[in-house]
Amino acid sequence: MKRTKIKALLATPPTGQTVLVQGWVRTFRNNQFIALNDGSTINNMQAVVALNSLDDATLKRITTGACLSITGELIPSPAKGQSVELKVTALEILGDSDAEKFPLQPKKHSLEFLREIAHLRSRTNTFGAVMRMRHAMAFAVHQFFNERGFFYIHTPIITGSDAEGAGAMFRVTTLDANKPPRDEQGNVNFKEDFFGRETNLTVSGQLEGETYALALGDIYTFGPTFRAENSNTTRHLAEFWMIEPEMAFYDLQDNMQLAQEFLQYLVRYALEHCADDLEFLHKRAQEEEAAKPQDQRSELGLLDRLRFVADNDFQRLSYTEAIDILKNSNPNKKKKFQYLVEEWGVDLQSEHERYLVEKHFKKPVILYNYPKDIKAFYMRQNEDGKTVAAMDVLFPGIGEIIGGSQREERYERLVKRVNEMHLPEKDLWWYLDLRRFGSAPHAGFGLGFERLMLFVTGMTNIRDVIAYPRYPGNAEF
Ligand code: 4AD
Ligand code: MG
Repeated sequence: MKRTKIKALLATPPTGQTVLVQGWVRTFRNNQFIALNDGSTINNMQAVVALNSLDDATLKRITTGACLSITGELIPSPAKGQSVELKVTALEILGDSDAEKFPLQPKKHSLEFLREIAHLRSRTNTFGAVMRMRHAMAFAVHQFFNERGFFYIHTPIITGSDAEGAGAMFRVTTLDANKPPRDEQGNVNFKEDFFGRETNLTVSGQLEGETYALALGDIYTFGPTFRAENSNTTRHLAEFWMIEPEMAFYDLQDNMQLAQEFLQYLVRYALEHCADDLEFLHKRAQEEEAAKPQDQRSELGLLDRLRFVADNDFQRLSYTEAIDILKNSNPNKKKKFQYLVEEWGVDLQSEHERYLVEKHFKKPVILYNYPKDIKAFYMRQNEDGKTVAAMDVLFPGIGEIIGGSQREERYERLVKRVNEMHLPEKDLWWYLDLRRFGSAPHAGFGLGFERLMLFVTGMTNIRDVIAYPRYPGNAEF
C-alpha cells in the first residue's frame, strides 16, 4: 500500500477506508493515543490503538521521536480540534527513539537550545512551520517574476568581483592535491593558481545581473550570498539568500513601485497559502510578546501586521526629509527616545529607522536619494551633486529589508566615481563596457530572503529562519 500524506488525509471525508501513514511520534498518551506528524502539515494525525491490540514490548517502543508506519481505518473523530482520526489495524516501528536520550521532549524548548541541535530542530512544530513557509515564499518569488516576464539568471557563486566595493568577503582557495592537507608546521598547503587570480564567494549577483538586464530586459537572481562581516546580530548571517531583480528602462520611481508590489505579493501569498502554519506562528509570537514588558510589545499581532502591509501603500520619503523628521523628533524630553541626528550626510542607525517606521509613520517606509558618500559606486548620481538615486525599504521590527537603486548608466560619470572611490577600474572593465555599448537607464534591488522570512513568520532571530545558519564561530552542521 502507498502512503498518503497526513495533510491530504485531514481533508478527506472519513468513510472507514484503509490508509497508510508514516511519520514521527509527537506524543503517546494512555497507551492509546498517538499524535503522529509526517511534516506535510503542522497538524498531527491522531492514531488510536485499541486496548490489548499491541503487546507490551511494542507499546514501550512508541516513544516521542520514534518513526512509525501505521495502517488504519480513517474515521470521524469524536475528539475536539480534529475532524478525522485513524483506527490502528497494523503498526510497524521503523525507527526507535530512546525516550531518555532523545533531546526533544514533548514540551517547549528554547530557541537557543534548539540552535545547538539544528539537525533535530527540524522535527519541532516551530521549525516545521518556518520551513514550509520558507518553501512557499521561495515558490512565490518565482511565480511573481514569472508572471511578469522576468527571467531567472543564475549568477556565479565564485567570483573575481566585489560588487559592493566593501570588502567583507570570503576568499576561495584550493588545497594542493599533491601534498598533504597541512605541512609539518601545521600550515595549510594551498594551491593558489586555480583561477589564475584571487576569487571570493559572491556578496551580490547584481553586477552580473545587470549584464543580463541589458540584454533580456527584466531579470532576477535568487541565490546564496556571503558576507564575512563580523556582525553578531539577530539580523545578519554570513551566508544568506538574496533575490535581486534588475530591470532595463526602469527609473527609481519604477523601482520603488516594483519593490512595494513584490513585498505585498509575497505577504498576500503567505496569508492565502500558509494559513495553518501562520496560525501556529501567530499564537507562538503572541506568547513571546506576552512575556515582554508592556512598553516593548508590538501593537499588532503577526496576522494583523501581515494584513496591514498587504493592504497599505508604503510611505515614500527622501533621506533629507527623514533627517528633518529625526531632528525634530523631540530629542530631549524623554531621554529614552533620543533620535537626534546631528547632521545631514550620516548613515541612519537602526534606532533611527525604527523610529521612522514604528513610531512616526507606523507603516513600511521607502527612503530614497541618500548622500552619495554613504552608498555604492554604481548608484546613479542626482543633479544636486550630493545624492544618489538609492532606495532602502524599511519594515517594522526588521529595519532594512530591501536595498536598491537606479544604476549610473553614464560612462564618464561612472568611471569618475570608480576612481574617486579608489576602486580597481581595470577589474571592472566588463561592467564599464555595459556603459560603452548600448547603455540604457536601469534599476534594481536586493531583498534579503531571511529578513522577509523574519517578517512573515514573526520569528525574531535570523538564525531561526534558515536551516543551518552561518555566523561568526558557527559552522558546526
Ligand atoms: O543592501 P545590500 O547590501 O544591497 C546589495 O547587495 C545590492 N547589490 C542589492 C541590489 O541592488 N541588487 O543587501 C540587500 C539586502 C539587504 O537589504 C538585506 O535585506 C539583505 O540583503 N542583507 C542581509 N541579510 C542577512 N544577512 C546579512 N549579512 C545581510 N546583508 C544584507
Ligand atoms: Mg543596504
